[in-house]
Amino acid sequence: MTLNKTAARAALLALLLCGAAATAVMAATPAQPPVPAILMTPEARDIHSYAQPLVARVTHVDLDLTADFAGQKMTGTAALDIAAAPDAKEVVLDSKGLVIKGVADAKGVALPWTLGKADPILGAPLTVTLNGARRIVVSYDSAPGGAALQWLTPAQTAGKKTPYLFSQGEAILNRTWIPTQDSPGIRQTWTARIVAPEGLKAVMSAEMLTPDGEPVAGGSLYRFRMDKPVASYLIAIAIGDLAFKPLGARTGVYTEPSVLDKTADELVDVEKMVEAAESLYGPYAWGRYDLLVLPPSFPFGGMENPRLTFATPTIIAGDRSLVSLVAHELAHSWSGNLVNNATWSDFWLNEGFTDYFENRIMEKLYGKERADMLADLGWSDLQEAIKDAGGPASPNTKLHLDLTGRDPDDGMTDIAYQKGATFLRTIEKAVGRERWDAYLKAYFARHAFQSQTTAGFVADLRANLIKGDPKLEAAIGIDKWVYEAGLPGNAVHVQSAAFPAVDALAAAFAKGGPAPSAKWTAWSTPERTRFVASLPRQLSAERLAALDKAFGLSAQGNSEIRFVWLQLAIANRYDPATPSLEAFLTDQGRRKFVAPLFKDLMEQGTWGQPIAKRVYAKTRPLYHAVTRQTVDTIVK
Ligand code: BES
Ligand code: ZN
Repeated sequence: MTLNKTAARAALLALLLCGAAATAVMAATPAQPPVPAILMTPEARDIHSYAQPLVARVTHVDLDLTADFAGQKMTGTAALDIAAAPDAKEVVLDSKGLVIKGVADAKGVALPWTLGKADPILGAPLTVTLNGARRIVVSYDSAPGGAALQWLTPAQTAGKKTPYLFSQGEAILNRTWIPTQDSPGIRQTWTARIVAPEGLKAVMSAEMLTPDGEPVAGGSLYRFRMDKPVASYLIAIAIGDLAFKPLGARTGVYTEPSVLDKTADELVDVEKMVEAAESLYGPYAWGRYDLLVLPPSFPFGGMENPRLTFATPTIIAGDRSLVSLVAHELAHSWSGNLVNNATWSDFWLNEGFTDYFENRIMEKLYGKERADMLADLGWSDLQEAIKDAGGPASPNTKLHLDLTGRDPDDGMTDIAYQKGATFLRTIEKAVGRERWDAYLKAYFARHAFQSQTTAGFVADLRANLIKGDPKLEAAIGIDKWVYEAGLPGNAVHVQSAAFPAVDALAAAFAKGGPAPSAKWTAWSTPERTRFVASLPRQLSAERLAALDKAFGLSAQGNSEIRFVWLQLAIANRYDPATPSLEAFLTDQGRRKFVAPLFKDLMEQGTWGQPIAKRVYAKTRPLYHAVTRQTVDTIVK
């Protein structure tokens, strides 16, 4: 896994030389797109990919796949365009469990290939001898039981009649269904031809060329095109009984027909969100912005797949109170999809920027009061994340992470989100909002459709914002923020003006006072969440019963409130809430909710562990591999 530096340098030199020579001297060789500058920096070396992009790099992918629901596999071909030096012998792709049937060049002539030794995290390198080819066609099946694809039974859908398939690529899961260079620094354009079973609709994170499909033998053919270069983790697919409803001129939502109307109603503000985002950081670069609201086993709140955000149905609260998730995924259209982390050590560039941007969209649309509440809850999450990491001295509290030997998933904590966003707020405070916004907008434009490293961002910040101002440099302390553990003393804590009163009522209730029913009715979701979360972890059964009775917490349809209530109930070994807990762990599989609840149960010894084991035995088969992988390490 260590970089062969000499080989890489030699290849780099060859590429640089041939860039000049190729056009003039070797006119027969088609011009090769230049290596993106960021990939030539040492910081961009991706330890989670076998690819050697300085030698041979995938620039375009054409997928031609059939969704085989009976066999639970995608089967077909991936044709890859390769940019390589004239003397490049081979291209190295990522693969994890793929069943490779053969590799050929564009004329169908077989090319030699080998699958290397499989690493439990990275999978195995698929090395193809090029024999001069610049387009290769891999025939394959997706990995049996591979982590990216979840094949749902009809029972796991809202309609209960037809099966469903969806993918989750981030971080390094797409190598279980697409043989390409699965590295966030290697951007690729792509197309797909997908055959779906008769009656089911296929959607992807791309331009949908055949919205209704075309009849072919064995089902319907759907065609897609993404003509902007994207990181491979952003290629996504779903197939199911899907209906569509427009939300605005360039926005809409896909979901199962039985839940379409209520889902669309929840998302009425999406078009306005796109406008708010554009007014902050420049034009939306992807054409349409649609959402796909998935069945409840979707392991994340949302995933920023370009043109088509994937979202959990747990945000459909009925009162539009959880739409900040849409603001978040939409914000990734700039911070993440337009300019994305070049390696998983730079994950904070995706999520810290996006959390910051999400909050700015919320402020623009719903006002400072609501945005401040959300930011203040984020501050609490940050304190929690520092504790979970083992305290402020832990290297896991750094923004730029050392992930050597680790699954990138390990680094994906609230540190990236909340310390990242806090860092940007700290810069905003130091330079003023006007200057900061102008900088950010120009930053996205300057690096559009490029990957970025932490070092690259820091250099850009110094060149275009700090501009050698020693006072500013000292006021921010960039290197400390980015490369050191803990939270610097100048961290900006956004405090909600509404929370002190909420906290006071929680304290009074804990001491035996009445449940503040009138307040609760008037409160927004963040205030309610804050109230429950700020109650002391030790409460009598009488207090818990009073709370549940007053606010109907065990029957809460709002997933965020239900979650904090169940955490409180577990901390107190409160049996009456166990049926509600079990239902919540069964009815949805969002890792952010499921994993902490199982963890809390396991920490409650002889009371909690039997519950955790009993429930998980039942729910494990329902969860996506991402959630399963995490919970497997908790419930043992
Ligand atoms: N890109 C992430 C989801 C993700 C993170 C996938 C890490 C794979 C690895 C997405 O944008 C995200 O952050 N989702 C959050 C919601 C958000 C509102 C904080 C989630 O899923 O909870
Ligand atoms: Zn995100």
